[in-house]
Amino acid sequence: MQEGQRDTVAVLDFGGQYAHLISRRIRECGVYTELLPYNTSPATLRELRLKGLVLSGGPASVYAKDAPRCEKGVFDIGIPVLGICYGLQVLVDYFGGVVRPAERREYGRTILHAEGKAELFYGLPKRFVCWMSHGDEVEKLPSHFKSIAHSQNSFAAAVQHINLRLYGLQFHPEVHHTKHGKRLLRNFLLRICGVKPTWTMRNFLDRTIHDIRQRVGYDRVLCAASGGVDSFTTTALVQKAIGDQLTCIFVDHGLLRKGEPESVLSTLRRKLEMKVIFVDAGERFLKRLREVSDPEEKRRIIGDEFAQIFKEQSRAHGPFDWLAQGTLYPDVIESASASGPAVRIKTHHNVAGLPRSLPFKLLEPLRFLYKDEVRRLASLLGIPREIVNRHPFPGPGLAVRIIGEVTQEKLRVCRDADAIIEEELKRSRWYDKVWQVFAIVGDDRAVGVVGDLRRYGYIVTVRAVESTDAMTADWSRLPYNLLQQISTRITNEIPEVTMVTYAISSKPPATIEPQ
Ligand code: XMP
Repeated sequence: MQEGQRDTVAVLDFGGQYAHLISRRIRECGVYTELLPYNTSPATLRELRLKGLVLSGGPASVYAKDAPRCEKGVFDIGIPVLGICYGLQVLVDYFGGVVRPAERREYGRTILHAEGKAELFYGLPKRFVCWMSHGDEVEKLPSHFKSIAHSQNSFAAAVQHINLRLYGLQFHPEVHHTKHGKRLLRNFLLRICGVKPTWTMRNFLDRTIHDIRQRVGYDRVLCAASGGVDSFTTTALVQKAIGDQLTCIFVDHGLLRKGEPESVLSTLRRKLEMKVIFVDAGERFLKRLREVSDPEEKRRIIGDEFAQIFKEQSRAHGPFDWLAQGTLYPDVIESASASGPAVRIKTHHNVAGLPRSLPFKLLEPLRFLYKDEVRRLASLLGIPREIVNRHPFPGPGLAVRIIGEVTQEKLRVCRDADAIIEEELKRSRWYDKVWQVFAIVGDDRAVGVVGDLRRYGYIVTVRAVESTDAMTADWSRLPYNLLQQISTRITNEIPEVTMVTYAISSKPPATIEPQ
């Protein structure tokens, strides 16, 4: 929790993704919020002097033996509570009502009928579209609770305690499909909790600069730049706070996109006027990656080599007391959570997040922010627009977009194809509509015919996805003529390529990057 204090509302986390989405919507209402584990004790909640509490949705059934529930006494603190979906069922169960498997499950669009004049529905129409997703339903409300809205299948689509400020919604106000969801959340926050909407990026910026100065004093700070918006924002923020005491390190591992080393360096040095240690390490990385085709092995080698370089450079230019890195809020919550994913799908390597073994104190000024907030902060800090809006790029770079061994030839094909794709998406104004777009190259070959001659060339796969947080993704329905233009340019301009394909798998079951 951040010290100081602004009005804060906490979200008790009954299931990662649901909780993050609610938390993001609350912040969009200008209210600061943090996620806390569902079993946070009443004593801790009291200490935090919260203005309100939201119970998130989650995948469990509240009548199951090991179902996650609130700690005893949480509702005695006296702050307003809003239970959402599973959160409503937790509330009902806690106060002695009955929840059971629904006779008719409700998934998707439903019409909500509000009854009476509930404060929660202030200014909203009597009926509106809401989004349901539940397999369990309230059979019987606890005493002192009443229904304030119903839907076709739920007599208790929204409920409220008759004396206390306890509310529950069976539907999801946080999803865009619920027509007045944001207004409803705002009613809870501003009208029922009495919170002032002071969470703005300008306030965050001023407060964080002050905090960094206080913590760092006259110490020296090292920050690894990767070219992504998170690391640029971290460096710009720390530099604004402590100026010359900050040194940046930028390692070119030879797996960056076309023109990227030059443009990152020039932005750091010229636009942001940073002190930068630049390490041109392409050869070192490619040598170690020779004959390696296993995806996890590639990731391991790149991480290891990066850590080596980092140690060498910090020894040569140090000593440094602090390491600044661009860790974001979802990473903080994920690593703090005991219920992380049981199976490791990929070893994500975040350049700035790597060398934890080094003897530095950690400075993570973005650890309370979501990606969209970082982008807003970056704009406030004057970071150029093309960096603010640039698609995420994995730490191991093109190595995870090259299937099989990383060779100079495949690297060149992948880089050139990627540049064409990016150019075409920007030209057609599709770039800002997709989460990521890039080229994939493997070892499969296809026979082509060029001017009556046979050519046996590479296959380039174009991947474009839409997503809000990279946890799930759908393939982008790019127009055929745009795909055609990309395909024609790739085969015309990269002679080693004879065929272009388009990846149409969503995540899950695929992942965004192929490796
Ligand atoms: P996947 O491929 O796991 O990717 O669906 C999810 C998101 O994470 C990015 N990604 C990475 N980012 N280091 C990073 O900093 C990594 O090692 C890494 N691997 C994947 C990917 O581009 C997508 O946005």
